[in-house]
Amino acid sequence: MRDHHHGDADRPVDQAAVICGIGAELPPTALSNADLCTRLDTTDEWIRSRTGIAQRHIAGADVSTEDMAVSAGARALRSFGSRRVQALVLATTTPDRCCPATAHAVASRLGLSGVPALDLAAGCTGFLYGLATAAGFIASRMAEAVLVIGADRLSTLPARGDRTTVPLFGDGAGAVVLRRGQACEDGAIGPVVLGSDGTHGDLIQAPRAGTLRMQGSEVFRHAVDRMASASTQAATAAGWRMQDVDRLVPHQANARITSFVARQLDVPAERQLHNIHSVGNTGAASIPLLLAQAAADGRLKAGHRVLLAAFGAGLTWGATTVTWPDLTP
Ligand code: UT7
Repeated sequence: MRDHHHGDADRPVDQAAVICGIGAELPPTALSNADLCTRLDTTDEWIRSRTGIAQRHIAGADVSTEDMAVSAGARALRSFGSRRVQALVLATTTPDRCCPATAHAVASRLGLSGVPALDLAAGCTGFLYGLATAAGFIASRMAEAVLVIGADRLSTLPARGDRTTVPLFGDGAGAVVLRRGQACEDGAIGPVVLGSDGTHGDLIQAPRAGTLRMQGSEVFRHAVDRMASASTQAATAAGWRMQDVDRLVPHQANARITSFVARQLDVPAERQLHNIHSVGNTGAASIPLLLAQAAADGRLKAGHRVLLAAFGAGLTWGATTVTWPDLTP
């Protein structure tokens, strides 16, 4: 993901992909636990205590993954201050159709017709797979800058009336722009650790919308183990000790999962970012949405050393590091 060349001072310079724009989109309709209790055999107390979720945002029937991706992508391009990107990666588990991919329509609506664009499916780890893919496009000199979007309508996956899955999921999108830069700059993405294990593919399955089956407690165990070990590997690969981490940004699957991960890593509560209480599990959107919100409200500041970790269906997992840049979402 990095290469060496000789700079003006005739010293090797580590190249890297650098975050230089960010944006997000949440559908306006929030569905509270109390709203859910009118249609599911559940309680606000159960959902809050087992998951940390108080509400989730739900896209209307007329709002597609494409629509949310376009909104988040447009904001990220505005924050970058340019439309000059040469590729688009859309991480999603809920593309609008089998064929063609959703990314092409997103690119065209953003005024990027002609650039290479692809959908990338890696469950809730999709955004980190997307960052690695975009960094590869930049390292291979295919692109100077790449738009990476995570967008999902996970609320469409559970079966209606399934109290074990309906409360968990919400809809949304988040996006960043990566550009070619140097590893020493704020915003530079560190080494990305990724993995997958299809032998456990049956733990989270949805052959199509409305058919999700999840073995919750098994998934819970794998999520904690994989996010903690990927985080340790990514921090070590970046040359960070865990006490160097100013902000842990884990995929928002369940507040109990993320607090177990933080405990295993020994990251104190004030260094953990979360938004699961207000958005639920938004899949590939989870990490960029949380980054955008935290950058906007000051929980995330320029210079913070940030550790990102994700886990999802596949099974898939990943982690990486970034020193947060000075950005306006
Ligand atoms: O992005 C990655 C994808 N997914 C995840 O990361 C999810 C990971 N797993 C989880 O978050 C948790 O396992 C859940 C939140 C899904 C479930 O929590 P749990 O503490 O593992 O509960 P459980 O599945 O062991 O169920 C405990 C009880 C069961 O009743 P019995 O069999 O003990 O009588 C469930 O039927 O809770 C019951 N239950 C509910 N009760 C009220 C399950 N869902 C509900 C509900 N309201 N919504």
